[in-house]
Formats: sequence, structure tokens, C-alpha cells
Amino acid sequence: MKIFDLQKQFKFFEKKINKKITKVLSSGSYILGENVKKFERNSCKYLGTKYAVSCNSGTDALVMSLRAAGIGTNDHVITSPFTYFATSEAISLVGAKPIFVDINPHTFNINHKKIKKLIAKKTKAILSVNLFGQACALDEISQIARQHGLYHIEDCAQSFGSSYKKRQTGTYGDMGCFSFFPTKNLGCFGDGGLITLKNKKMYDLLMKLRTHGGIKRNQHDLIGYNSRLDEIQAAILDIKLQHLDMLIDKRIKVANLYFKLIKNDKIRLPFVDKNGVHTFNQFTIRVKKRNKLEDHLRKNGIPYGIYYSMPIYKYKAYATDEYKSLPMVEKITNECLSLPIYPEINTKDIKKICNVLNEYE
Ligand SMILES: Cc1ncc(COP(=O)(O)O)c(C=O)c1O
Repeated sequence: MKIFDLQKQFKFFEKKINKKITKVLSSGSYILGENVKKFERNSCKYLGTKYAVSCNSGTDALVMSLRAAGIGTNDHVITSPFTYFATSEAISLVGAKPIFVDINPHTFNINHKKIKKLIAKKTKAILSVNLFGQACALDEISQIARQHGLYHIEDCAQSFGSSYKKRQTGTYGDMGCFSFFPTKNLGCFGDGGLITLKNKKMYDLLMKLRTHGGIKRNQHDLIGYNSRLDEIQAAILDIKLQHLDMLIDKRIKVANLYFKLIKNDKIRLPFVDKNGVHTFNQFTIRVKKRNKLEDHLRKNGIPYGIYYSMPIYKYKAYATDEYKSLPMVEKITNECLSLPIYPEINTKDIKKICNVLNEYE
């Protein structure tokens, strides 16, 4: 059994993907061609946004969004301490400082009620994260940002296809940043990312940023990046996008089976916010004595992941900055444990996982 099995998804799409790859390879157009444009158009349609700029990775999507918002040295960005390192890394990469706000212990997302207190003169943006496939309080957070003249950037790396109050993630903030890392809801066979937005000026700026600061030959209006999604990945993503609802549906079915079959008072199941659609990029449980459960799972051959074992401010990279510890994220990083979840996981494996969990004392 594996925590995720990417080969199974490849098998499902193999014929279509191989045909498409051959077509791209024989076209002679490999960078920023028709496949990229088509995928960007279809992403806009799926997500319900005006513009989409594809790029090299979710990390680049974050970095370029912060740059497009003019965020740099001496600026502060309010964000979550319970996320993948890339979220705050992007803030630091543009020279700004991440200011961490504690999380909601139910959704694991930023606690929006604690944001206002942290807004100061240097604050320029809120970078919220839709963790594990569940939207944070996007409506409320974007309102706070508007009231205080801040940018709101959404880290949607784990939430392609998730929604909040009937709107897709990535459509509430000024910009939404997606990752196509292979294990994401919509994953490619390498690295890839996408920025969604509504503002034409920002769109023009991002189009320049992703190609060395200019869109025409010999045009370099600003210092940019080489951050392009290549034609092969775009073509693959466009095929998968057409089947995304089915893939998400399967994730939700797996989650529902976990909800139905796990019956153990020692295990706290994920909370699902009724305001949104949780797409279960991860199925993350809580348990008091995690080491003990880890031993039990290992002994029984059940794979699992710890996302995440530390608040971001505890990583060595931030050791020189002085950050106060935040109680909820400290608690959750000690208790969280993610179970295998992917669209193709079979029912037999889920039943086995649940039996092992139910035997845990
Ligand atoms: C929450 C979050 N933010 C950012 C990233 C970075 O995305 P990428 O790996 O595509 O650079 C990831 C994914 O790994 C992520 O999970």
C-alpha cells in the first residue's frame, strides 16, 4: 500500500496523454504555444475567473503574485504558520517578512478573527492558505483586506476545485496561486503553477514577470523570471482538467468512506466547513499520542504522512527571526496525521486502514 499512487492515474489517462505528447513533440512548439493558451482559457472557465497566467510552479506563482502586488523589502505579509514551507518562503524571497497568525483548530486554516490585531503600518498583504483542500474563510478574509487597503493573495496549491460559499478558491483574493505538483488535485508530470486574477493591469505585469520582464523580443521592462509552464505539461493538464470533477468526486467518496468506517474515540476526524466544498487533497486526523498511533500504523503496514510536523516559524530558516509561539498551531503540529487519499485508492485498502485504526487503543 502507498500513501499515494501516481502510476494508477497515469494508467487511466495513458492513451490520451501519449497521443497528445506525440502531437506536441512533433509540432516543434514547446514553450508558450497553443496548449498553454488553451489550458489557461479552460482554467479561467473552470474556476470562474477572468485571467490565468500559468508558470513554472506554485512557489513561483506565489513569488510573482507578491511581486505584482509590489511587495518587497520591509513589508509585512500576514500568513499561516501551518502550511508547506513554500508559502512563507515566497514572502521571504521577495524580501518581505511573514507575520504568522494562529490557526483555527477545526479547519487547520488561518483564524480570520485574529488577523485584524496583527495589521500594522508595514502590513501590505494577507496570504491565506486553503489547506488540505478546504477553503479558509475567504469571504471574511478578503473583506478584512479590502477594509484595510491590503492585498489578499490566496495560496490555492492544495485547493484546485475547492469552493467557498459557492465560489471557487482563487477567485476571492486579488490573486490565486495554484500548484500542479503531481500529488495535487490537478497534477502534472513535473512542476507547474498558475495564477488567477481579475485585474488587467496586474495580468499584464504577471505576463511580463514570467518571461524575464517583457513579452516581446528584446523587451525587458523589469527584472523578471524564467517561469513558464511548458507545452507538454499544459497539454496533459488540459486533458486532466476535463476529468477533474470526476477525480474530485472520487476523493470525496474516499473521505466519506473514512468518515463512515473510522470508529475510534481516540481519533478525531477532519472537520468539514459547511460553507464550502472540501476536495480532500489530504485526509488529516488528530490524535493525542501521535507517536503511539504511528507505531501502530507502521507495525500494520499502513502508510501515512505528517503534514506538518512543525509551525513554519520553528524551521531553521527562520531561527534568527523572533517569533512568538502560537498555541493552536503548536497543538495541531503535535496531533495531526494524514491518511492515504487519492482518487484511485481501492476500497479494500481503505477498509484495511480503517480496521487498523479501529484496533488502536
Ligand atoms: C500550501 C502550498 N503552498 C505552496 C506550494 C508550492 O507549490 P510547488 O511545489 O508547485 O512549488 C505547495 C506545494 O507543494 C503547497 O502545498
